[in-house]
Amino acid sequence: MKFYLGTNWKMHKTVAEALAYTEGLAHYAKDYPQFQFFIIPSYTALWQVRQKVDALGAPIWVGAQNTHWEDQGAFTGEISPVQLKEIGLDLVEIGHSERRQYYNETDFTVNLKTLAALKHGFKALVCVGENMPEKEHGASKSKIATQVQIALNGVKAEDLPRVMIAYEPVWAIGEKGIPAEAPYVFEIHESIRKTLCELYGEQGREVPIFFGGSVNLQNCQSYCGHPDVNGLFIGSTAWQPDSFHQVRIW
Ligand code: PGA
Repeated sequence: MKFYLGTNWKMHKTVAEALAYTEGLAHYAKDYPQFQFFIIPSYTALWQVRQKVDALGAPIWVGAQNTHWEDQGAFTGEISPVQLKEIGLDLVEIGHSERRQYYNETDFTVNLKTLAALKHGFKALVCVGENMPEKEHGASKSKIATQVQIALNGVKAEDLPRVMIAYEPVWAIGEKGIPAEAPYVFEIHESIRKTLCELYGEQGREVPIFFGGSVNLQNCQSYCGHPDVNGLFIGSTAWQPDSFHQVRIW
């Protein structure tokens, strides 16, 4: 399995900034074939970023930050998997903690979106993670197992190769996030792997599991080297055009 390095840009970057970043990363990505890079821009930049990646022949996946589960309908402000498919995206991110916190995303809508993304041929990047009170009450593993189980309910084994999980503890995300200790991250990733294997048998070993939440230049290396940490999902540290040059994990 390749090691994955991805970034969600959240509500950042104009189209011009997105294109400049993509161009920089495209040159860099070709020199590091051991990594699968992916970027998740805002909707407004998706089309042009996709064109740019293709024009440069860059080995970078492009994804959307969310999708509705319906193909179309009276859902003002939403975007459908059919519309995203027209752009030719590789993946859809589903259930980021900010969506869960601020936009009423639940495990059940995450499940609907996961099924819709897979139905339309995308890779589904499902985000899970516990909040601080859950961690403090010793409920992290059970919370995350439930999130994974509900997200993947109805996902057929034949579609599993297009599923990816991002473990992002809510308390570690963003400006006020507290970076997680690596041993804790490893323990949770092992537990996610166990859940995947309970659901899909040995096939569960093939699902990449990424870690995210306050990954920075100082701690990025510490999260690598464990067989169940298959990638890093990075926010603000990866938003500068030359960020990935600095994320030295090899
Ligand atoms: P952060 O964001 O790296 O800025 O904490 C991570 C994320 O939300 O995916």
